[in-house]
This record gives sequence, structure tokens and C-alpha cells, in this order.
Amino acid sequence: MPMNYLEFYKKSSEFAADFWKEQSQKIDWFKNPETILSKDANDYPLWYADGELNACYLAVDKHIEDGFGDQIAIIYDSPVTQTVKKYTYSELKSEVAKLAGGLLSLGLEKGDTAVIYMPMIPQAAFAMLACARIGVTHSVVFGGFAPHELAIRIDDCEPKLIITASSGIEIDRVIAYKPLVDDAIELANFKPEKVLVFNRKLGARVPFKKYDVDYDALVYGSEETDCVPVNATHPLYVLYTSGTTGKPKGIIRDTGGYATALKYSMQYIYDVKKGDVFWAASDVGWVVGHSFIVYGPLINRNTTVIFEGKPIRTPDASTFWRVIEEHKVSIMFTAPTAIRAIKKEDPNGAFIKKYNLASLRILFLAGERCDVATLEWINQHIPVPAIDHWWQTESGWPMIANMMGVERLPVKPGSSGKVVAGYDVRIFSENGKELGPNEEGYVVIKLPLPPGTLMDLWKDNERFKAGYLNKFPGYYFSGDGGYKDDEDYIFITGRVDDVINVAGHRLSTAEMEEVVASHSSVAECAVIGINDDLKGQIPLALVVAKSGEEIESFQLQFEVVKLVRDTIGAVASLRDVVMVERLPKTRSGKILRKMMRSIADGEEFQVPSTIDDEAIIGEIRMVLETAKIGSFK
Ligand code: COA
Ligand code: AMP
Repeated sequence: MPMNYLEFYKKSSEFAADFWKEQSQKIDWFKNPETILSKDANDYPLWYADGELNACYLAVDKHIEDGFGDQIAIIYDSPVTQTVKKYTYSELKSEVAKLAGGLLSLGLEKGDTAVIYMPMIPQAAFAMLACARIGVTHSVVFGGFAPHELAIRIDDCEPKLIITASSGIEIDRVIAYKPLVDDAIELANFKPEKVLVFNRKLGARVPFKKYDVDYDALVYGSEETDCVPVNATHPLYVLYTSGTTGKPKGIIRDTGGYATALKYSMQYIYDVKKGDVFWAASDVGWVVGHSFIVYGPLINRNTTVIFEGKPIRTPDASTFWRVIEEHKVSIMFTAPTAIRAIKKEDPNGAFIKKYNLASLRILFLAGERCDVATLEWINQHIPVPAIDHWWQTESGWPMIANMMGVERLPVKPGSSGKVVAGYDVRIFSENGKELGPNEEGYVVIKLPLPPGTLMDLWKDNERFKAGYLNKFPGYYFSGDGGYKDDEDYIFITGRVDDVINVAGHRLSTAEMEEVVASHSSVAECAVIGINDDLKGQIPLALVVAKSGEEIESFQLQFEVVKLVRDTIGAVASLRDVVMVERLPKTRSGKILRKMMRSIADGEEFQVPSTIDDEAIIGEIRMVLETAKIGSFK
């Protein structure tokens, strides 16, 4: 057991190979890795290259073999359907192994890909684990994305199969998923062979297509199948995340490094003991869901909670506390936006007092910066430490945190903590010079990144290099800005690119711009992320209509909002569209998005010397003021 954070960190950096060899021994391999760190054909680091294992075995079968088949593996808590259902590890194995057998009978083989487009129901986890069991690489697509987004991902990862459910439930409506999947297949160039549909029988329309297979019938008619050994570097999944263009990036996750890193995270970051109830209130469509709803807690033999609801309105702001009390949650993970939503409905924490939160030990926060006001509210009303921690889809597990299982360091409001042992985080200037304490710059990480982090982008190594590796050779470029203070606490200040963070969801403004610009009446546009009290950021579209267009501005605004909802999905949360005569640009024609963001947020800014015409600043300000948008509300 490590003595303190500094010693532990030192060990991880000075003896990296030994350190990660030791960590890898905490999981069961079918063939132990002899090579700990090597390089791939592109000279990029590879972990445990000759090891063999299976992530589903680690998450399920192993615990039964160890005698814990009767322990609860999954608690499905769904306030939107008023259901609570529990699965022991033995029951989980039976569900997963039969489904895996069914997938084999549909012709899936090790090395194939499958897309999973499902709401927060246990079958989503079964589907992920069943794929892992037979070496099929899964790609889960968040249910809030529209058919166009699903189609982009289908074309990129070319799944043999899509696994879906008949419907999802949002606060006020049932969303029929199957028609969305059919539309996506229609839109995509690549056509999956089959669609496996889990019918929830909630009344949603489930149009039948020739490629459909019924989930229940398949599982009922299938034999359990065993876990196949895969190489440590076998892609467990591809998870798409927003980049700075309209095309999302397919982050490839390995198997061996990831399993090792998750086991490590559960022990040293989350300080969670085997058997504890661990609840990450996120969605399987995001990386948090992959790492800390499904694989992490199950590999660590915890009970994980699959929660189908929201922090508020399902039915009210007491839901989180009810779940903690009812299921004796020990460690919880959520996004600050969820706490802000609760705080808005229950400012004095009246609901919190009604529940017994004695089981809860730590509340982890991530997905976006935890603002000081939210942290203070938590500290005032929730009787456990609130721990911010920073990571990304790319890393797959935390990079900056307070390593609660190593040494509980004092919390500094506004900071995500210190660098996690295994990473070497630096702050760089634009020209790659390392900056000193309290100087803000780019957050970069010295290569090699530790196990479990991204291996590559799916079928796009050039973009991988261009996006992450070329800017600062020898370092991974995170896309975030930040600084370290005198005591090495790191403060993340936000994205330095066109990615925005809306209610903990990572979205691309460039992608939204492409959609807005595709409207026939739009001459040009800019989409920027502006501050929002609840969601952290929300997108704002500034639109210049084509001259001579007959369309009324309110009609165009309505159509633009609908277009973005229909193309990207409701999750984009684009509600604010303002019409402007022109956009601020430099003399060379570059749109000054950052300046517009500062105007909307009411922040001070320097007028760029290259601006084409300064009068535009007043124009933009007036439009936002009239529309009561941003700081002009
Ligand atoms: N399927 C279909 N639609 C979805 C969806 C899904 N899985 N998830 C979200 N949507 C829709 C919502 O219904 C909403 O539609 P609307 O505009 O018609 O109301 C829209 O997408 C925006 O959703 P959301 O951002 O969730 O906003 P909200 O107002 O419904 O809820 C919060 C606000 C803050 C309560 C909610 O965003 C939340 O709980 N955030 C936490 C996020 C989180 O855990 N992130 C993971 C990172 S750790
Ligand atoms: P995602 O890949 O969806 O997990 O989003 C990752 C991005 O969310 C990061 O690059 C950050 O910009 C932001 N983010 C996540 N966690 C934090 C945090 N604790 N503090 C600040 N920003 C965060």
C-alpha cells in the first residue's frame, strides 16, 4: 500500500514499467504479458502487447468462479418506468453468455464491429459485455443523437449488427428508437446485416424491417457461449467523440491496458472496495458509462447502478438521494450540471435532509469544470467530500484527481486536483515552452500515455497524429487550457478549440455550424458556446440570411433550431439563434468567434488589431441585448 501521494507518484514515473507491470497483475490474464511497454508500427506506445485476456471474463465470470455469483452485479433503477430490478453476477452471466451465443448465431465473429444504440437499461450493458465476450468491438452511440449522427458512425465503423431497443424515455416523452435506427440505415452508405431489437413494450412504434431480429427470441433460443481470449491490444470498443470538424472522432480503446487502468482507478482514485455499490449517474453512450457504469465497477466486483432518469423531474430533485439511500450507494459520480439542476429546484437541500445518506463516502464530479459556487453548495448540504477530477473520452480514465485511495489531499476549489500517478501533465505555451506556476497555457501530457488511454482513431491515423501528437512532438495535446499553482494543483480553464461542453455533453460547434449553414436561406453563420448557469455552456447561432430571402427571421430561427435537432439531436440544446447583418471578421476573412463569445458572456476582451470593422462589435452587442441572450438576459 502506498504511503503518500508524492511517493506513489514518484514510483509511477521513475519505474513506469515496473509500476504498470505490478498493476497489470491485479487482473486475471489468460496469458500474462511479458512485454509491458512497446511501440506500434507508427511508433506509438503499446501496453502489454503479448498479453491475452477477455474484458467480459474479468467483469463477470471471474467473480462467479471466485464464489460471488450471488452478489448483486447490476441494480437497474428507473424512475421513468418505476422499476427497480437487480441482477446477481450469475444472472448477469446467463444474460450475457446467451446473448453472446445469439450474436455468434447471427454470424458475428471476433474482429467484427457492432453498434449499440440504447437507452439506460441493463440490456445496454448486456450488449456491451456480450460483444466483449466474443471479441466483437462495440461502438455505443448516445441515444440523444439523431439518425444523421448515427449514420456517420455506422459509415465509419461499419458494424455487422446494430443492437437497439424499441424506445427510450425522456422526462416527458417516450422516444421511439427503432424508426431512428431505420432512418440512420437509410442514410448510411454502409448497410449493417441485422438489427437486434429489444422490445420494451412501452407502446412505441416498432416498424418491422427484413433485417430485424427480436432480442428476447434470440436470447431465449441461444446457448451460453464462453469468453474468447483476445490480445491485449484488441479494440474493446470505438467511442465517437466531438472534434473540431463535422466528423466525430472514433477513439479506439484497447482491452488489456484499459482493464488494468480501470482496476487501478477503482482502487487508487475512487477508493472503492470490492462489493461496494458504485453509482456513476451518466449514460452508457459516454465514456463515463463505459468506464464507470459498466467495465470499471464490474471488473472490481462492485454493484453498479444503471439509472434511467434525470437528477430532477423524475419525479423531482430528491431522486439522487432516494437512490443513494435505497441502494446503499457508497461512491457516487455525477456532473456538476446535475448538482446545479438539483440546487435550482431545492436550493436549501430540503430533500437531502429527508434521506439517510450514511452509506455515501465520496461524491466525484467530472464532465465539466466544477464551479466554486456548486462545490460550496455541495459542501454545505451533502455530508461527504466532493472531489472534482478531469479526464476525457480519449484518456478513458482520470488524468487529474485527488487520488482518494492513495492520500486524501486537501481540496482546492476550482482545481481538479493533482496529476494522477501514471500521467505527466505539463502546461505549454503556444510555441511549446513549458510554463511556470500560475501561467495559463495548453494542457499537454508527456508520452507515453499510461495504459488504457486511446490507441488511435478508427481508420484515421493521420487525424490522430494531426489532432493530438503533431502540435507538440513527444506530447499528447488535450485540447484543454489550464494552469498549475505553486503546489502543483491543476486548474482546467476550458477548451481551447471549437468543442463545447453542454450539460456535461461534449459537442462540436463546427459540426453545428455545418448543419446551420446547410439551411437554404443561410448565407453564413457562426456557432459559439456561451456561459449558462445550468448547463455550463449552451450553443448560440449567429446567422446571416441570404440577401433577397423572403423568409421571416422568426421562421428562419425556428427552422434552424429544428434542423439542428433533427440532424444532430435534441442533446445539442441549440435554442438561441440570432439574425445578424454580418459577422465580425479579420481583414483576411476569419470569423472572430472568440470575440463574439466574450461579448455574449460580458467579458472584457481586446479588439483584435486585424479586425475588419470595429463597428460590428456594437452591432453584435445590440442584437444580443435585444434578444436577451447571454449576459444580456
Ligand atoms: N435520448 C433522447 N433524447 C435525449 C437523451 C436521450 N438519451 N438525452 C437527452 N435528450 C434530450 C432531452 O430530452 C432534451 O430534449 P428537449 O430539448 O426536448 O427537452 C435535450 O436532449 C437536452 O437534454 P439535456 O442536456 O439532458 O437537458 P435536460 O434539460 O433534459 O436536463 C440536466 C438537464 C442538467 C438535468 C441534464 O442534462 C443532466 O442530468 N445532465 C448530467 C449530464 C451527465 O451526466 N453527463 C455525463 C457526463 S459525466
Ligand atoms: P468527454 O470527452 O466527453 O469526457 O469530455 C472531455 C472534456 O470535458 C475535457 O476535455 C474538458 O474540456 C471537459 N472536462 C471533463 N472533466 C472536467 C473537469 N473535471 N474539469 C474541467 N473540464 C472537464
